[in-house]
Amino acid sequence: MMIKHLLSIDQLSTDQIDLVLKTADSFGEVGTRTIKKVPALRGRTVCNLFFEPSTRTRLSFELAAKRLSADVITFTADSKTSVSKGESFKDTALTLQAMGLDAIVVRHTSGGAAKRLSQWVDASVLNAGDGSNEHPTQALLDLYTIKQRFGRIDGLHIGIVGDVFHSRVARSNIKAMTKMGAHVTVIGPPTLLPVTVGSWGVDVSTDLDAMLPKLDIVYLLRIQKERQVDQFFPSLREYSMFWGLDNRRVGLMKPEALIMHPGPINRGVEIAGDLPEMERFIVADQVTNGIAVRASLMFLMLGGSQELPPSEKS
Ligand code: CP
Repeated sequence: MMIKHLLSIDQLSTDQIDLVLKTADSFGEVGTRTIKKVPALRGRTVCNLFFEPSTRTRLSFELAAKRLSADVITFTADSKTSVSKGESFKDTALTLQAMGLDAIVVRHTSGGAAKRLSQWVDASVLNAGDGSNEHPTQALLDLYTIKQRFGRIDGLHIGIVGDVFHSRVARSNIKAMTKMGAHVTVIGPPTLLPVTVGSWGVDVSTDLDAMLPKLDIVYLLRIQKERQVDQFFPSLREYSMFWGLDNRRVGLMKPEALIMHPGPINRGVEIAGDLPEMERFIVADQVTNGIAVRASLMFLMLGGSQELPPSEKS
């Protein structure tokens, strides 16, 4: 019942999302064992193909594949690969195709790159972030983290704050969160909210202080200077003053409300320097859960689904 490629959250039904999250529970348990490995994908080969920097996504996909006993190769488009000699994305893809891979995890600066790759290769393609388009596995690990903390997603009010315009995380999360029944409000300066945002099934606000007391989750986005070709706000200091989370603003939140962030964080910009150490800032849970959710996806998509990993006690 699982899809061959994961390019967009649009491809997943609520039942499929539930299955990914439920299966991730088993892999979360594997991650607590002394020997964190199951044979589910033994003999299969996964390639991490990264044309853009990454810490969390690349390492957690690698760790997830290794925990499933897959062989993992990693390609980062730098001076050590033939991309530096002018080899195109397509020729790189065809080279990988000739190596008989089972899955390719791809991150690329261009929106649509993962879809294009899926048209060139027989392997399953997992989108690890394509330009400003989508980052579906980030959204799934975020759903998992929310469900773990609140026991549900349905009915929660989630504020996505900041650079929505350039954010693939926002696009995938808005699709995933609204699909699973959450009420989403996007909050930020008008210049960082896409003109089409009104058709995304979300509420829109430019007043963070007014929204904070209503939210169950404050999901902060990174200011993506690398994607901003225009001056979208006067200065980082001004951005921080109007839309950054600081101690005063945390005081406006519901006592039980949590703060999330996909990482990497810009301390002192979207979040005050000392806040990431707060208990209600759960970015470390997001990172930990990313391994289990990505293992779950690869397990389901690559047909390792004969049996879930047995409990260490059984
Ligand atoms: N959240 C995320 O995609 O982080 P990386 O860019 O470090 O992979």
